[in-house]
Amino acid sequence: MDKVIIFDTTLRDGEQAAGGALTAEDKMEIARQLDRLGVDVIEAGFPVSSKGELDAIRHIADEVRRPIICALAHAHREAIDVAWEAIKDAQHPRIHVFLSSSEIHLLHQLKKDRRQILESSREMVARAKGYLEDVEFSPMDATRTDPDYLYQILEGVIEAGATTVNIPDTVGYTIPREFCNLIDGIFKNVPNIHRAVVSVHCHNDLGLAVANSLAVLDHGVRQIECTVNGIGERAGNASLEEIVMAIKTRQDLLRYTTEIDTTRIYKTSRLVSELTGMYVQPNKAIVGANAFRHESGIHQDGIIKERTTYEIVDPESVGLTGTTLSLGKLSGRHAFRKRLKELGYALSDEELGRAFLAFKELADKKRDITDRDLEALVAEELRTVHETYHLEHVQVSCGDPIIPTASVRLTGPEGQLLSNAAQGTGPVDAVYRAINHLVMVPNELVEFSVKSVTGGIDAIGEVTVRIESESKRYVGRGAHTDIIVASARAYMNALNRLLATRSK
Ligand code: KIV
Ligand code: ZN
Repeated sequence: MDKVIIFDTTLRDGEQAAGGALTAEDKMEIARQLDRLGVDVIEAGFPVSSKGELDAIRHIADEVRRPIICALAHAHREAIDVAWEAIKDAQHPRIHVFLSSSEIHLLHQLKKDRRQILESSREMVARAKGYLEDVEFSPMDATRTDPDYLYQILEGVIEAGATTVNIPDTVGYTIPREFCNLIDGIFKNVPNIHRAVVSVHCHNDLGLAVANSLAVLDHGVRQIECTVNGIGERAGNASLEEIVMAIKTRQDLLRYTTEIDTTRIYKTSRLVSELTGMYVQPNKAIVGANAFRHESGIHQDGIIKERTTYEIVDPESVGLTGTTLSLGKLSGRHAFRKRLKELGYALSDEELGRAFLAFKELADKKRDITDRDLEALVAEELRTVHETYHLEHVQVSCGDPIIPTASVRLTGPEGQLLSNAAQGTGPVDAVYRAINHLVMVPNELVEFSVKSVTGGIDAIGEVTVRIESESKRYVGRGAHTDIIVASARAYMNALNRLLATRSK
């Protein structure tokens, strides 16, 4: 059996897709969870993109000590120097240099010839190597690159010191058979290839990212780059949970190992979805809400008789507990804490106190409280952002034919009470206008979505908003049985994130 290195790029390729919506605290929280999950490499970001990004990566490098912490750099001197600046204090630092190699990128984007690209690739890897031992190189758009030219680049960068060479399917164009042939070609035609680990990085434009990544393992690839929930540019990257669970489930054919603690997969998925504001589709393999739900009578009958009749993955192996209906109105604090602990949450006494109050409030409105409800509730309580403004009260009147009107009361930065009323095109618009008059931070609402956490008329509604201000996006989430309250909380959450980022 051979170990596959799991290189997680949720905080880089995934973040790119979320429009840079993660705060430094969010990135740190995800990095800590990836560490617990057991990934080998965390690509923490692209430090040259902004000072905030550089600082966020530096903090991760300082605190998260077990995995390799990797910083991405394009083939530019300053980018490499800044990447080193970001990760130089990591226990295990890595710099990942990339440069396009396909004719289509050279001609239309870089406007450089092959010789210049070859030289730059070597030179930039050598520059990174001047700083540290662990250097990765990616010839971007490798799957649309002339293979003979690709071999020359790979030989050159390994000669210059690259210890990992990554073959990106940047636009998700390849199919398994073709990709395997390319990897075979690399092993055959790059004389020094055995001095480097061969890695792949697949995008999902044709829905083949996971299939392509798994197919090449039998051809010598030993690192897979992937993201939690498969988030990433456009249709996303290969999904970490699918790769890992395919390897675990099909040991008969995929005789490889990973260091992932699969029981932490579900919680990691929820955290990433929560903080990036990117929902997981219900039918998503492994972590979707329907991944272990059996609707047809025949399937249910089979499951009751023997789980494996219709389930190839044990839900508990990805961290889903069997219990759904767990707590109710009469449950005490002790049972509440115990259930949260079973779900993997370790709350401080203060956090627990707040979550318990919210639980009691919910139990007054909702008869059966499920694990999903608890997760939504705890996520609401654990929002890491400092609240400059706190929502005290919101009320709306709306219907047909009245003009929707909202009144809100907030506590301001100095503890002062602020209130306002406003009208809008709908109740949410009215609430947001009323809040805007008090907070006074110009922004545009670019996304608003609401979904119910569970079924049933008394379900919790979870609202996600994305706002944009000065070209930066901020995500906010709120959960409540009343979706207007959830909407107000989500908006306040996004505004507080914006204010917290600005004040830094
Ligand atoms: O998709 C891609 O090519 C990338 C590189 C930076 C590895 O993300
Ligand atoms: Zn990518």
